[in-house]
Amino acid sequence: MENITETQKKKVLSCIQPSGMLTLGNYLGALKNWINMQEEFDCTYAVADLHAITVRQEPAKLRAQIYSTYALLLALGLDPEKNTMFIQSHVPEHACLSWLLSCYTQFGEMSRMTQFKDKSARHADNINVGLFSYPTLMAADILLYKPDFVPVGADQKQHLEIARDIAVRFNNLYGDVFTVPEPYIAKVGARVMSLADPTKKMSKSDDNLNSYVAILDSKDDIIRKFKRAVTDSLGCLRLSEEQPGISNLIGIYSAVTGKTAAEVEKEFEGKGYGDFKLAVGEAVADELAPIKANYDKIIADKGELERLYREGSEKAERVARKTYFKAMKKVGFVL
Ligand code: TYM
Repeated sequence: MENITETQKKKVLSCIQPSGMLTLGNYLGALKNWINMQEEFDCTYAVADLHAITVRQEPAKLRAQIYSTYALLLALGLDPEKNTMFIQSHVPEHACLSWLLSCYTQFGEMSRMTQFKDKSARHADNINVGLFSYPTLMAADILLYKPDFVPVGADQKQHLEIARDIAVRFNNLYGDVFTVPEPYIAKVGARVMSLADPTKKMSKSDDNLNSYVAILDSKDDIIRKFKRAVTDSLGCLRLSEEQPGISNLIGIYSAVTGKTAAEVEKEFEGKGYGDFKLAVGEAVADELAPIKANYDKIIADKGELERLYREGSEKAERVARKTYFKAMKKVGFVL
């Protein structure tokens, strides 16, 4: 890729919410791709803090989580010189474009969003309008930066489709304003399931701490959680719908080691589930250990963190403002 200049590089955009500890699901489903993509693409990555308040947050905790999520992105090895890395709320165009897009989004199509249905069932006492219109904010996050690809886990596919639909609809009315992005979903790791209930997605907002592995968990905790992972009584290691727990562990092991499912099945043929779970725990712990070591250093230097996210936000806003004003002008606003 040596001959490709910055301007010829394809663009990538993705964001992550700062709600709780980031998990192995976030890592394998999205962040690992963010890291791989930074070499080849012009990447923009954000901490999506505005999204986090669709469910109630405690202010001091939210603040700490925004810092910690940004620090974790750096700890993963994402380079703020190569990529644009910022905090969503620092670039007001996200909220502004979201309003504009919400006027080009139908109530009916938003009502079909499965994440809204799930979250409104879980937070029945706070089904706020933000939770409902969340995908228009996500569409704004994406469309402002005109990315070609958006690396996400499988759970975000539906939101990405609506962002594409909104972009096409707007472009049909006003000409070529937005790029219609392609989802980039990994073949392995796109849907990491809970260790306590493998029919549910692994999620940082799960109350059961044994159901997920946090990227910053200690080696002992990681191995303990894998040892307790729910499996079955069939006693054979196969990637199949009848064995959701074992299949999840095979997927995780494949994503971390790069081995195919068939190779994993062969490696553990004749061995007990205990041996397999320990091997998965150790492979995951070894993969995550350097990230934790980096994180501890980075989070200790708040001054440097602030410098980086401010610089990142300025860089992001220069791009976002252009797209936002172009969209406003097309609609007929006086600038
Ligand atoms: P969020 O913060 O829930 O998750 C961040 C990324 O991690 C992926 N992910 C998973 N992948 C595999 N298995 C899992 N168990 C798992 N859990 C999470 C998610 O798919 C996501 O890629 N709405 C988004 C954040 C967002 C965004 C955006 C993403 C806001 N604006 C613009 C892309 C583009 C969200 O809540 O992801």
